[in-house]
Amino acid sequence: MSFNLKNRSFLKLLDFSKRDLSYILDLARDLKRAKYAGHEVQRLKGKNIALIFEKASTRTRCAFEVAAYDQGANVTYLDPVGSHIGKKESVKDTARVLGRMYDAIEYRGMSQQVVETLAEYAGVPVFNGLTDQYHPTQMCADIMTMREFMPQPWHDFKYAYVGDARHNMGNSLMIAGCLMGMDVRIGAPRALWPNDELIESARQLEALNKGRLTLTEDPMEAVRDVQFIHTDVWVSMGEPEAVWAERIKRLMPYQVNSKLMAASGNPRVRFMHCLPAFHNLETEVGREIHEKFGIDAMEVTEEVFESTAGIQFEQAENRVHSIKALLVATLGSQ
Ligand code: CP
Ligand code: NVA
Repeated sequence: MSFNLKNRSFLKLLDFSKRDLSYILDLARDLKRAKYAGHEVQRLKGKNIALIFEKASTRTRCAFEVAAYDQGANVTYLDPVGSHIGKKESVKDTARVLGRMYDAIEYRGMSQQVVETLAEYAGVPVFNGLTDQYHPTQMCADIMTMREFMPQPWHDFKYAYVGDARHNMGNSLMIAGCLMGMDVRIGAPRALWPNDELIESARQLEALNKGRLTLTEDPMEAVRDVQFIHTDVWVSMGEPEAVWAERIKRLMPYQVNSKLMAASGNPRVRFMHCLPAFHNLETEVGREIHEKFGIDAMEVTEEVFESTAGIQFEQAENRVHSIKALLVATLGSQ
């Protein structure tokens, strides 16, 4: 291995350099090609990985499981209610127990502090599978996907994130782009921008890596000239239902619809979303919102979601390849 990320935890992008992340992304591309070509080499044989999910998941859980199995590792899934974590047993004690049984631990939950504590006490690498603050494994898939559609140097990438920007996805996309030296635009109402401390961290990365960060309340300005437009749900897991009314009111001008896509001025602009997305009435929540507020799509319209501009399912697939790269880089045998 040319670059050493052995035994590192992956808790947030702020702990990593551009070079670290580039290495994971290159490895992810290699592993994807190897799987497609049928010559994947298993480098995680005999490893055991605990997957703790205190919130629901489709992609992250499945990606960790498939990545681990492809590479010869075993996983144990701990669901939101089945273990003692946080209820009868502290995070610190759980970390010390699981650290003696497993080679690594994935954690999804509310608090960034919990995943940081797990990493402090487990003695094995811990991977953040989403907290309220960050979604770092999603960033690997997002950058990997953008690169597949635009194989230019990192510096030439221009993307916007529009919507609720003070939660995991907005925070992470702001940091990811600044870390890679890209042109990143955050389009959101001022009250939903990342917090000032995080903006300051992003500004430092922007300077270090020669990125360009713009925060604006104008969605049209945010998307001008970009190659990719990202969004996320307007109400995240763990937030109370009561916030829907306020969020819909505030964020409707940031909905990704054909007008916003056109405002990029780029006929080849692509739409991205970490998923799940509310783009029609085919979900329980979508129907409830429709009944209460009379809208049939939220952060993205059905038209954009189903158009050829949408690359959200490539993005979803790349969760497997990029998480696999993270596992191989941190735990893999030579
Ligand atoms: N994007 C993402 O993290 O999806 P899941 O919630 O399904 O894991
Ligand atoms: N912001 C969303 C991301 C889901 C992958 C949430 O936390 O629910």
